Amino acid sequence: MKRVTLPDTQSVPALGLGTWGFGDRRETRDSEIAAIELALAMGYRLIDTAEMYGSGGAEEIIGIALERAITQRIATRDDVFIVSKVYPHNASRQGVIDACARTLDRLRVESVDLYLLHWRGRIPLATTLHGFERLLADGRIRRWGVSNFDVEDTEELWRLPGGSACAANQVYYSVSERGVEFDLLPWQRQRRVPLMAYCPIDRGSAAGNDTLAAIGAARGATAAQVALAWILRHPDVIAIPKASREAHLRENLAAADIDLTTEELAAIDKAFPPPTRKQPLTMY
Ligand SMILES: NC(=O)c1ccc[n+]([C@@H]2O[C@H](COP(=O)([O-])OP(=O)(O)OC[C@H]3O[C@@H](n4cnc5c(N)ncnc54)[C@H](OP(=O)(O)O)[C@@H]3O)[C@@H](O)[C@H]2O)c1
Repeated sequence: MKRVTLPDTQSVPALGLGTWGFGDRRETRDSEIAAIELALAMGYRLIDTAEMYGSGGAEEIIGIALERAITQRIATRDDVFIVSKVYPHNASRQGVIDACARTLDRLRVESVDLYLLHWRGRIPLATTLHGFERLLADGRIRRWGVSNFDVEDTEELWRLPGGSACAANQVYYSVSERGVEFDLLPWQRQRRVPLMAYCPIDRGSAAGNDTLAAIGAARGATAAQVALAWILRHPDVIAIPKASREAHLRENLAAADIDLTTEELAAIDKAFPPPTRKQPLTMY
């Protein structure tokens, strides 16, 4: 498995599991818990979630699955890297502390490994930072970061005292959404801040793309695997595809071992041209 190094030198798997859509419905709860347990048994060691997903339901089912995996000695708490996110409206100094307490409760853990501001809201960034710093000092989070921040936002963050301690920025990045390659990715690379790619399979649609399917067919891979391998060509990008089906979970994990050739990358550039000018960040 490829790995990505965070600014504090901690290395994390380049491919993790997204969980948006989990925890929404009572009828699918058991199968979702089973999917996360299975993912852990397969070797997934990074899980992305948020207080928003299923209104806390996703964090709850991750907590149950992780607890079971630990009991069965499939994983230990220390080797699973958990990312969660706070709603912008909860990101006041005290609000972030309270939201994190609820998140830890649902996840049944003592701390989250990376805690992100889900997107920018009305609360000043400096205020949120104070909350993050308190959580760090209390050992409730191991590091903090942001999500859906474009270059202007990251520049503003970096101007704040302590702002450059940001460990990652999670944004939409996929074959069809390459805008970040123009400015945000180079900006972050210069500062050694990894990018976390959300919607890396374009919410499933990249799996049906003909160009990606043809490249995959020639090397015994699926279109979705090519889409993920394409993202993981960067040494400093983490992809967090969401999957609930066993075959998808397996495929995606295996994609982290695929290295695309120059010819394959050129074919992808032809079908999905890289940006030649600034594009506003796509948010989903
Ligand atoms: N920070 C943010 O604002 C933000 C926004 C959006 C997403 N995210 C995070 O990023 C994660 C990923 O994004 P996403 O869930 O929106 O989209 P995604 O990962 O691009 O796509 C997920 C969809 O693709 C399907 N899929 C997964 N693997 C597949 C494969 N190998 N072949 C064919 N289809 C496959 C899944 O189906 P099955 O479930 O049926 O397997 C699911 O319907 C989220 O779950 C969430 O954790 C963050």
